[in-house]
Amino acid sequence: METIVEISGLGKSFPQKQGQPVTILRDVNLTIGAGQTLCVMGESGCGKTTLGKIIAGLSDYTTGSYRFCGKEVSQLKGKEWDAFRESVQLIHQNPYESLNPASMVFDIIANPIRRHRKITKIPELYEEVTRLLKLVGLTPVEDFVDKYPAHLSGGQRQRVSIARILAMNPKLIVVDEATSMIDTSLRISLLSTMKQIQQELGVAYFFITHDLALGKYFAKGQAAMVMYLGRIVEAAGMDQLVANPCHPYSRAIISAAVGDTGILEDAQFRKYSLKDADIASFGNMPSGCPLHPRCPECIDGVCQKTNPPAFTVETGHEVCCFHYQTK
Ligand SMILES: Nc1ncnc2c1ncn2[C@@H]1O[C@H](COP(=O)(O)OP(=O)(O)OP(=O)(O)O)[C@@H](O)[C@H]1O
Ligand SMILES: [Mg+2]
Repeated sequence: METIVEISGLGKSFPQKQGQPVTILRDVNLTIGAGQTLCVMGESGCGKTTLGKIIAGLSDYTTGSYRFCGKEVSQLKGKEWDAFRESVQLIHQNPYESLNPASMVFDIIANPIRRHRKITKIPELYEEVTRLLKLVGLTPVEDFVDKYPAHLSGGQRQRVSIARILAMNPKLIVVDEATSMIDTSLRISLLSTMKQIQQELGVAYFFITHDLALGKYFAKGQAAMVMYLGRIVEAAGMDQLVANPCHPYSRAIISAAVGDTGILEDAQFRKYSLKDADIASFGNMPSGCPLHPRCPECIDGVCQKTNPPAFTVETGHEVCCFHYQTK
């Protein structure tokens, strides 16, 4: 399988008005294969969107390497940069803001086809818009082409956003909490349409969520990682991660999600919780392992001193926790 995204040792700092820059992402390593899904989970503010924007080329990185289809993204210029930006698209969280309220659905989807693929004849455009609307499940197509965003529900708007993105033939779509503003009852149906699109077109997804149950549903049989304070603390197959979470933070978030929707009923660690210490912030990172003040498994004299590197639990399953260090 072709690897399209290769990120290693990546870091991101934001300059502050006063004082030192604040480092948000540290030593991020990940790969995404063509047509595959990588799901990233973690609590609010841990850096998921920051990473998603870097992957989509909407933000730069401070250190490390990000290669897209073998080429270092920070070195891309001119036509190569434009091609990269077309290949990676981002679905916004808010379908109310991402669509032009003054454009009809037909134009919203036809405009990028005109611009990027140089198709201008109306019958050809109509054929392509029809194909895309069918792919995203907006049928019968005649009921939607002449509607404005205000006529559509949140779920339908998000489907139009996806059709517009697909008009550019992306290789990878960054999906940043794309269903969080949609009625719960419509979420699974939208996610299942996106999975079907993946099977038909072979597009890859970087799927960002703080909702583990949604992550487990969307990335079943695919790859997943858990982020805490800007670091990836555990990476594994999604099913492996839910069946055998090794990092104390992963155990705690899985335990907290059980019972929400029934999707995680098979999860272990149902009653696992962290200590009630203050949650650290990027400006005030604890020494050693950033979780240690909240960690019930903290090894005295070890976890306070050194930030654990990634240890291999089994093939394809890595965890940054000293409990998995093999001597
Ligand atoms: N442009 C910026 N300048 C300074 N700090 C920023 C900037 N963008 C993000 N941050 C900080 O980076 C941290 C991570 O933010 P980010 O939006 O990536 O988190 P997140 O995991 O997506 O959170 P959420 O689940 O709430 O969407 C936050 O502390 C945020 O304040
Ligand atoms: Mg976010």
